[in-house]
Amino acid sequence: MYGCPSCGKNLEVVFDLTKPLARRVRARRGCGLDRWRDVLPLRADTPSIPLLIGDTPLYDSAALAKDTGFRRVMVKDDGRLPSASFKDRASSVAILRALNLNRRRVVAASTGNAAASLACLSAAVGVRTLIFVPAAAPEAKIAQLLVFGATVFAVDGTYDDAFDLSVKATETFGLYNRNTGLNPFTREGKKICAYEIAEQMGWNVPEYVIVATGDGNIISGVAKGFFELKTLGLTRRVPRMIAAQSTRSNAIARALKTGRLRPVRATTVADSISVDLPRDGDLAVDYIRRSDGFAVEVTDAEILAAIPYLARKAGVFAEPAAACAAAALRRAARDRCIPRTASVLCLVSGNGLKDVKSAKTSIEKLSRPVPVNRKSALKHVEIFLKTGKTP
Ligand SMILES: Cc1ncc(COP(=O)(O)O)c(C=O)c1O
Repeated sequence: MYGCPSCGKNLEVVFDLTKPLARRVRARRGCGLDRWRDVLPLRADTPSIPLLIGDTPLYDSAALAKDTGFRRVMVKDDGRLPSASFKDRASSVAILRALNLNRRRVVAASTGNAAASLACLSAAVGVRTLIFVPAAAPEAKIAQLLVFGATVFAVDGTYDDAFDLSVKATETFGLYNRNTGLNPFTREGKKICAYEIAEQMGWNVPEYVIVATGDGNIISGVAKGFFELKTLGLTRRVPRMIAAQSTRSNAIARALKTGRLRPVRATTVADSISVDLPRDGDLAVDYIRRSDGFAVEVTDAEILAAIPYLARKAGVFAEPAAACAAAALRRAARDRCIPRTASVLCLVSGNGLKDVKSAKTSIEKLSRPVPVNRKSALKHVEIFLKTGKTP
């Protein structure tokens, strides 16, 4: 079952967040996803995925703190997951649920990352994947799917068209569906990011967490994790959740202002967050409000500029969607919508190598290689070392 049988809306997994559960979480062992089994809806005999899902680095960036003026800025680099995006957290739990149900064929629609992660993790456990992507998805993302052995249907339409087709395929052929915002278990994998952040910060979570937002499933998942941690008595506060959105794909930002979730015509360069109607929009809005959070909208130019910004300040290479969170960090500093005294965490949800074309565009006006021949090369180096300039 995916949606609610009476209203059709997304379902949510609810745990009994009792003291014994908190004790079990405190006594956790192992690594990656397996360390958090007690707060995951998986049968005790569920196998492990033989890949490291989680345990991504959390960096304290003095350079970003200095540049933005915030007391503390942290970067959680989820581009380091097996398929190079945050989506591995969701796919892992969805695949394990499929195995719990004895289903060995999983279908998904995706702008790229969710599918790539599904294909990658499925390959590791021998599950077959069928993927619907918009034909315009970046080449590297489609290549990744094919490399991992997925069967790919490139739809001559938008992500929303791909989504609808995957749901029809699920109903028609009885497949297991991993779609974001449809399968309630994806959120369970995503919430583990909050558990990891809390653990890495000694259970003293940041005041603000910025998440690039399209469908709203990452932000609702991470927020769910923070709420669970607080209810379990493991942390003292829930960070204010900040949805970073492009002005060209801002349905959730609009819903936070108007109180109504309506489709937009999404056209942002950040393909992973280009969404007309957010599939997990209602819950995302609900969680953002409950955490006393808000949305920060940034232009596509700011998103592209944030790619080299984050790379040069923190050494982290983000794809455009992930860079949207860094762009929102900069804008929040400029607009003072987050106080200077705050600790802020910026979630980097996908690696920059996923979309090299956008990375190239992002540095077009900043720098380019210096053409040299073998004779003049060292002369140019000398000039650069003396003047700091290149021809
Ligand atoms: C790299 C990256 N960042 C952010 C998002 C946004 O996540 P959501 O659609 O759950 O809001 C996605 C979704 O595909 C993504 O791939």
